[in-house]
Amino acid sequence: MEDKKRIFSGVQPSGHLTIGNYLGAIKNWVELQDDYDSFYCIVDLHALTVRQDPKELRRRSLSVFALYLACGLDADKNTIFVQSHVSAHAELAWILNCYTYMGELSRMTQFKEKARRHKDNINAGLFTYPVLMAADILLYQAHLVPVGADQKQHLEITRDIAQRFNSIYGDVFVIPEAYIPKVAARIMNLQEPTKKMSKSDENENAFISMLDTSDVIMRKFRRAVTDSEAQVRYDEENKPGISNLMNIYAAVTGKSYEEIEQEFDGKGYGDFKKAVGEAVVETLNPIQERYNDLMKNKDYLQEMMNKGAERAARIANRTLGKVYRKVGLVSPVRG
Ligand code: TYM
Repeated sequence: MEDKKRIFSGVQPSGHLTIGNYLGAIKNWVELQDDYDSFYCIVDLHALTVRQDPKELRRRSLSVFALYLACGLDADKNTIFVQSHVSAHAELAWILNCYTYMGELSRMTQFKEKARRHKDNINAGLFTYPVLMAADILLYQAHLVPVGADQKQHLEITRDIAQRFNSIYGDVFVIPEAYIPKVAARIMNLQEPTKKMSKSDENENAFISMLDTSDVIMRKFRRAVTDSEAQVRYDEENKPGISNLMNIYAAVTGKSYEEIEQEFDGKGYGDFKKAVGEAVVETLNPIQERYNDLMKNKDYLQEMMNKGAERAARIANRTLGKVYRKVGLVSPVRG
């Protein structure tokens, strides 16, 4: 395990995980898990940048943990853990805050977008969010960060912070690369297909939750916004709704856009939407079954969670110790 290159990635437990999270990120983690020493995190501290119901947040962290396993992540092969269980994340974030500029943070599109949506709560955490994300990644000396396209800018700032730090103190951090899939890097909102599908959307018809029942999934696809051309053809600009459905269908079936266009040549949108719905149901059903089984055994989940945190802390504290020494913090004298 030690010789392999490292991966770090995470999901915020800030709502129902969507097929965007699955197809854009988690599915690829499962595919990469044999080739890398991987750290997969439930980033609960990040979720606090938007008001959360404490009870719900606690419940969701466990639920996301179970979903990771249900998607096929092996808790023995990978280190799966909750961010707040490893204090080094918050500690390194503080240090890195002192090496990050207000100007670069204020250019972040996610900050600008969230600040617009949560006008009454534009807190400092929302602003420094990417610094905590940089700390997540850099603590583990990760080479690769598999994410959806929306996280590209956060990866770029992570690299900038790491390079800045290294140029002052020597090679402390590995400079990470983003791994963004060719298909499904950006799954769009089913009701407004020019917007990203988001787990925190108020309109339930806008996203497919990974835990939606088959009926709900079929209904949401039936209601998905399309266009009036009645031709299944990939054209993101003029046919964002159909292109998004093609993207989802391509990701779950492995078919190319050309194959999909041929398959539905001469058929109506009704047939196409039904096929997309069925393919998604087929993908999610076994995950949901495993999820339901896992959630019956909370003690097991808790035990795996503790094990993950212990393993993660060991690696993270090594990096944090190095950073503390480099910047000139005095070591405590142990009695
Ligand atoms: P989050 O919780 O918004 O999303 C988790 C992962 O899912 C991807 N994703 C999507 N991919 C395709 N289409 C979509 N509609 C879609 N929506 C979300 C995201 O790109 C992401 O990969 N800041 C991160 C969490 C984070 C993190 C990290 C990620 C914190 N620290 C360190 C990687 C490394 C976030 O908010 O993801």
